[in-house]
Amino acid sequence: MAVIKIKEDVFYVGANHWDRRLFDELIPLSEGTSYNSYIIFGKEKIALIDAVDPATVDQLLYNLEQLNVQKIDYVISNHAEQDHSGGIVNILEKFKDAKVVTNEKCKNMLMDLLLIPEDKFIVIKEKDTIDLGGKTLEFYLTPWVHWPETMVTYLKEEKVLFSCDFFGSHIATSDIFNDEHFYMPAKRYYAEIMSPFRNNVRNNLEKVKKLDIDIIAPSHGYIYKNPQKIISAYEDWASENVKNEVIIAYVSMHGSTKKMAEFLREELIKRNINVYFFNLTYTDIGQLAMALVDAATLIIAAPTVLAGVHPQAMYVAYLANLLRVKTKFIGIITSYGWGEKAVDSLKNVLTYIKPQFFTPVVSKGYPKQQEFLQLKNLADEILKLQKDIVK
Ligand code: FEO
Repeated sequence: MAVIKIKEDVFYVGANHWDRRLFDELIPLSEGTSYNSYIIFGKEKIALIDAVDPATVDQLLYNLEQLNVQKIDYVISNHAEQDHSGGIVNILEKFKDAKVVTNEKCKNMLMDLLLIPEDKFIVIKEKDTIDLGGKTLEFYLTPWVHWPETMVTYLKEEKVLFSCDFFGSHIATSDIFNDEHFYMPAKRYYAEIMSPFRNNVRNNLEKVKKLDIDIIAPSHGYIYKNPQKIISAYEDWASENVKNEVIIAYVSMHGSTKKMAEFLREELIKRNINVYFFNLTYTDIGQLAMALVDAATLIIAAPTVLAGVHPQAMYVAYLANLLRVKTKFIGIITSYGWGEKAVDSLKNVLTYIKPQFFTPVVSKGYPKQQEFLQLKNLADEILKLQKDIVK
């Protein structure tokens, strides 16, 4: 994307990756993504804040040419993941005197991942500063947003927080200051990237809230001229609060499980409970992850396959476990023909989280009156339990 002025002598020089559709070979990118890199011109020194993914490094180099950048003194690396650090190698090739400024952990990771020699680094600690000449960079360590080495950089005079992944969103857009459309892409990003670390997110929120911030400039997606909007959204998402919502994630081979999942869905709606209904054969995992940010209850519905549960259901259980969802209650609905193993298979995967489990609803073949009665009882129990905890 073209160069965009952020503040006096501060410019966006990053890259949109419009057609990328998968991140880390795992996360669907329905709207592409961007790698936001920034350049700051002090009276004496010039600093680049993060680089870009190697696939888009030509855009970064082109933007630097447009600004007639002849030298870079410092490349600030807030995070070692290659979507930001990969292009540092190209920057160091072109700007021979540039030094990489980062914390000790990140330095070691960059040496491991990118083979950057140790003498290219300047190592900083919490609250260290670098004076560019009228522009002061101050560094804050913010572990686990997204990796253990992540940090943020605060430009004191201009009150800009360069937060890297923290507050980011996976979207390729030219409308980079749009503060109406930011919510869902940012929530999706939070769900996929940040939600497993919500304790750390809360700690880091407290740290950055002490700063006087005019602009939050992450290294993905939107730039926030009204920082309170994204900070408030993060406070909500990273809290332990849940909403009066149920996710039904189902897969069905011959219709028995589907019938039960649909029946439960309607019973819950009758009880004024909001339901997210995902057919796992087609589900966008990002949508499911977003729903898991808030829902009080997760219902996994799947048939038995061979000696276990259908693999699509296992994937959801594994994902929920990895994301360490704050879901308070989990229910399992299953059907089988001759061997009934699905419930134990799923429970064995959910090792990191400690939800309360409902009594499973298990149908031999197509559901009958007894299972429908059990599903009504399940809907009643969900209603009662959620009423007790939802604010
Ligand atoms: Fe955008 Fe964790 O890298």
